Amino acid sequence: MDSIRVTGGKPLNGKINIAGAKNAALTLMPATLLSEEPLTLTNAPRLSDIKTMTALLQSLGVEVTSMQDGKVQVLSSHAMTSTTADYEIVRKMRASNLVLGPLLARHHKATVSLPGGCAIGARPMDIHVTALEAMGATIDLRDGYLHAEARGGLKGAKVPLRFASVGATENVLMAATLAKGTTLIENAAREPEIVDLATCLRSMGAQISGDGTSTIEVQGVDRLGAATHPVVTDRIELGTYMLAPVIAGGEVTCLGGRLDLVKSFVEKLEMAGVSVTETPEGLTVKRTGDRPRAVDVTTEPFPGFPTDLQAQMMAMLCIADGTSVLEEKIFENRFMHAPELIRMGAEIEVQGGTATVAGVKKMKGAPVMATDLRASVSLILAGLAAEGETQVNRVYHLDRGYEHVEEKLGAVGAQIERVPGS
Ligand code: UD1
Repeated sequence: MDSIRVTGGKPLNGKINIAGAKNAALTLMPATLLSEEPLTLTNAPRLSDIKTMTALLQSLGVEVTSMQDGKVQVLSSHAMTSTTADYEIVRKMRASNLVLGPLLARHHKATVSLPGGCAIGARPMDIHVTALEAMGATIDLRDGYLHAEARGGLKGAKVPLRFASVGATENVLMAATLAKGTTLIENAAREPEIVDLATCLRSMGAQISGDGTSTIEVQGVDRLGAATHPVVTDRIELGTYMLAPVIAGGEVTCLGGRLDLVKSFVEKLEMAGVSVTETPEGLTVKRTGDRPRAVDVTTEPFPGFPTDLQAQMMAMLCIADGTSVLEEKIFENRFMHAPELIRMGAEIEVQGGTATVAGVKKMKGAPVMATDLRASVSLILAGLAAEGETQVNRVYHLDRGYEHVEEKLGAVGAQIERVPGS
């Protein structure tokens, strides 16, 4: 297995290109199941999670053509052969569950293995199931699979979600586009990836309003057509690279970055003494003092501080001046990076969903273990300012969500390399 070796102490200067959003692409790709006509996605990220979704869709009979080195994906569901999402693929990635809504909507049937994904908590599917049942589906759990059926098709309904789950909102939104009548999703997730999905579905002919707010209304139509859609910028990759110069020093412009995607994150950066400037080409970031200042952070659904930036923010707070309190409200068990950061000299105390971080002046490089996707990159960030060498092992998690991290950071001056595993 590959590892990444970082030697700390080099300030970063230059520009980093931010890719299309992994989490948007992972819901846009299954949207192809809703139509016989092709869906073309541009600005797609080149990641192993995208390959996993490609394999899943191909196993259902979807034709996937990858062009321009993977940046353009053409998907066509005109000759579907299966409505079963097999455990062998689903176990690799929780987002595989996003085929459930579209399969039910167009084929009135879906058999989907319960998902795997990052080991960051229980991550059940009850919200998806309750919502689709409200739309007339019958869903049983047998042998680790959800067996779902909607005889005569799904029906529009009032669908209140008990929590604003991103995946459940996406599944219901896709399902509702072909349901009979009007669906009202209440307490819907408001993430930019939901707005991106709704925008793409509208280009395919769906009738949707209210995306980006807590109530989404969908008027079902008989069929959807072809569309070409650019994937929205990855706000998590953006936030990650914005933290790099805050930790290592220097000034970095994240190309394609937009303030509206990372507003609550930027508010915290500014409280920590970081300067963020928006220009037509992106966001330029530099810290104003020798060290960032401590700041308290609580993760929340969008527009709150994203859980997917919590680990990276912790890496920054480890070297901040003062003590910070980080509260994780979305996932249980999402502080697995803390013991690894402690191995690098950080002072962190975890109690349940709260981590207290007492900033130290300098961390020290060490061999560390990546435990999940965002945790892996937080260790690389920490390594950028640590004394000596940090070796991040088990980086296959990293390749799920970051394209060419060593090239992107290397190009702005980081001393970083990938060490091929045996
Ligand atoms: C998506 C993102 C993930 C991000 C998360 C929260 C994708 C592919 N992944 O994941 O990167 O960290 O949003 O912003 O877009 N829950 C239930 N029952 C359900 C569904 C969810 O209890 O039926 C719980 C989960 O266990 C978790 C919380 O709700 O504690 C948030 O989950 P959800 O918003 O659904 O996240 P995902 O869509 O899985």
